[in-house]
Amino acid sequence: MAIILDGNALAKQMKKQIKAEVEQMSTQPGLAVVIVGEDAASHVYVNYKQRDCAECGIRSEGFALAADAGEDELLALIYRLNKDDNIHGILVQLPLPKGYSEQKVIEAISPKKDVDAFTLQNVGRVMVGDYTFAPCTPYGVMKLLEHYGIDPAGKHCVVVGRSNIVGKPQAMLMLHKHATVSICHSRTPNLAEITRQADILIAAVGKINLITADMVKPGAVVVDVAINRNTDDGKLYGDVDFEAVKEVASHITPVPGGVGPMTRAILMQNTLKAAKNA
Ligand code: GUN
Repeated sequence: MAIILDGNALAKQMKKQIKAEVEQMSTQPGLAVVIVGEDAASHVYVNYKQRDCAECGIRSEGFALAADAGEDELLALIYRLNKDDNIHGILVQLPLPKGYSEQKVIEAISPKKDVDAFTLQNVGRVMVGDYTFAPCTPYGVMKLLEHYGIDPAGKHCVVVGRSNIVGKPQAMLMLHKHATVSICHSRTPNLAEITRQADILIAAVGKINLITADMVKPGAVVVDVAINRNTDDGKLYGDVDFEAVKEVASHITPVPGGVGPMTRAILMQNTLKAAKNA
């Protein structure tokens, strides 16, 4: 039975530290949380993020735009927040509804307030390994592994998924920690063959039971980034068949309670950093 990588516990500890630091500051850090449209899951995530802010003593300002508000209205809001001295971080929850250019919207965010590290400037900084803001989910994974004494150096890390939010930056952060990195995706024909070579396997696709026990090398570290709602039982699952894989892996993240809370703890850290650098 694998050791459970408890993201809830570590995130709680990190938020406590952040709160203590915030209390010492003369200006209160402020995070703008922008959501467009009615996607139910996105609203849940945004509520969690604002609750985390409250726990850390960070001021959060929520902005909910209707799906049909339009790109110009969203851009005008971002420009206003860029200039607002009480706002240190700006988060635009993705995905955006149809009709919005995510790249254009992200690029409107001042890189200094880009606590998601989604702007091209911050993506480039992550690529070269000289960054202020690390992307929340991949960096949360790194911190969780570090906390449990798992050093990626010299290990084969297989990332399944190539999104701009997780897969690509995760591969870069692993590379900076001297892992040998493979990135697999929907066009990878021999997925199981490659995942079985992983010392550290990171799944970030969004497909329940994509990673089965036979795809995991005995003793591997398995990190499940996905949050999928099963329409049959209404419960949350990752990409990994947790019950079977936990018997094969040395370490595994649960869903929920693994990577999710770490993502939000890093967001709090990045907001604190943005306020200190303002
Ligand atoms: N949608 C899914 N993950 C994220 C994230 O980390 N940040 C934002 N802004 N949107 C997301």
